[in-house]
Amino acid sequence: MKSLLRSAVILVLPVVLIVGALIYARFVETPDIFSKVSSTEPVLTTKAYEIPTKPLNPIDCNGYNLSKKCPTNNPEISFSNQDRSSNSTCPDYFRWIHEDLRPWAHTGITQEMVEKAKATANFKLVILKGKVYLETYEKAFQTRDTFTLWGILQLLRRYPGMLPDLELMFDCVDWPVVLIDQNNVVAPPPLFRYCGNDLTLDIVFPDWSFWGWAEVNVKPWEILLGELKEGNKRISWDKREPYAYWKGNPTVAETRQNLMTCNVSDKQDWNARLYSQDWGRESQEGYKKSDLARQCTHRYKVYIEGSAWSVSEKYILACDSPTLLVKPHYYDFFTRGLIPVHHYWPINEDDKCKSIKFAVDWGNSHTEKAQNIGKAASDFIQQELKMDYVYDYMFHLLNSYAKLFRYQPSISDKAVELCVESMVCNAQGLENKFMIESLVKSPSNTNPCTMPPPYDPPSLEAQIRRKQNAIQRIESREKSYWEKQNAKP
Ligand SMILES: *[C@@H]1O[C@H](CO)[C@@H](O)[C@H](O)[C@H]1NC(C)=O
Ligand SMILES: *[C@@H]1O[C@H](CO)[C@@H](O)[C@H](O)[C@H]1NC(C)=O
Ligand SMILES: *[C@@H]1O[C@H](CO)[C@@H](O)[C@H](O)[C@H]1NC(C)=O
Repeated sequence: MKSLLRSAVILVLPVVLIVGALIYARFVETPDIFSKVSSTEPVLTTKAYEIPTKPLNPIDCNGYNLSKKCPTNNPEISFSNQDRSSNSTCPDYFRWIHEDLRPWAHTGITQEMVEKAKATANFKLVILKGKVYLETYEKAFQTRDTFTLWGILQLLRRYPGMLPDLELMFDCVDWPVVLIDQNNVVAPPPLFRYCGNDLTLDIVFPDWSFWGWAEVNVKPWEILLGELKEGNKRISWDKREPYAYWKGNPTVAETRQNLMTCNVSDKQDWNARLYSQDWGRESQEGYKKSDLARQCTHRYKVYIEGSAWSVSEKYILACDSPTLLVKPHYYDFFTRGLIPVHHYWPINEDDKCKSIKFAVDWGNSHTEKAQNIGKAASDFIQQELKMDYVYDYMFHLLNSYAKLFRYQPSISDKAVELCVESMVCNAQGLENKFMIESLVKSPSNTNPCTMPPPYDPPSLEAQIRRKQNAIQRIESREKSYWEKQNAKP
């Protein structure tokens, strides 16, 4: 009996220890020694950066067309001694960078892990001594990959000489694929993409639309953000239609088709005004009806996910009409910074029509509170999601990622050098226009913002619980609203 017990302990104890270590690894900040083993120690991460004295070379397409070679002199940046230490702390959502990279905190990142991420990747990007190399495995949908790569090139122009050597696998498809495996003792493959969910470990990265979405005429974020701000001033909130507005493609997801049943008809009015987007026709008509800066015409705007997260979220939140946000299942790099009831009004996905009707009735009878929600979201988008912070997010994510490297990345003979010339000189039409409009013209004269520390596990849990509680409070108010409505004769 005793020996049976002992062998049970021998069998079970290691499992408990391994599981314990895994839980620990997911929640506890890594001691410094773990991140210092990298052979590619990032050059500049904590000390004060210096302003490059020389401006960036002008883009020379004539020269590029003749030589078909990226200029060699671009990364030669000389630095002055002028201090440009950062005076701002990054927005709170940057703290999720620590969480997203935690799966590799103890193991570091090996070549084998990166190679495993190749299975679904569209491309591999290598940064070596400030130069960028690309190996394409499969062309992405539309120009997703093109503008993502363009964005990374702009990051290097903004902070020249400050990005360490690294390589990364990027998957441009909507859905996250790196599942959390509870029993897995092996570290997962590090795979970059635009969104994640609670079941996956994909590393989230800003999507292509920040540099432009040529296929649907969505301008680079920097320009659009200014237009959206102006757009808010066109009609004052109380003069806007007192309904919830949505326009998009309902066919991409069942939940969107279900939302369409809430549209106004002769028989019912759930306070929703819903429209389906016909991209074919809009394209012929020059996108006059899809001008995002003119879409702030209703007092409430609905956000609902498509096949995964939707690029539209930032445009909807930027309008200072409160966002009625149908319970999301995916997050992108900034949405984890949103606080329910403060930045948006939560909508119950299982009872959308009633939930929208209640939200609109509540807002129309609490106009000041409703406007505060709209304002909090548009301020968040204008301030915390300005392009400076998008670049800083990429900067900190890539720096923290590179710190985990256990090997020196190198380029294969299939890799081609990528530079702004090789992209913009070959691009036509809107693609070319958006690239020129989003080109970083000179290096930043301030440091990236200072990374906030990781959450300690109890405060992270408390934050998640606070968000859930806020949503539950709305749900119970909604329930009693409908009980009262139904009790009316
Ligand atoms: C360079 O070549 C591209 C594609 O061949 C062409 O579209 C572009 O006009 C050329 N640019 C210049 C400045 O010659
Ligand atoms: C940082 O300092 C500069 C110069 O003093 C100032 O103009 C800028 O507003 C400051 N930025 C922040 C985020 O405080
Ligand atoms: C919703 O109703 C409005 C008004 O009747 C209509 O114009 C619109 O096309 C409808 N939307 C959809 C997606 O059917």
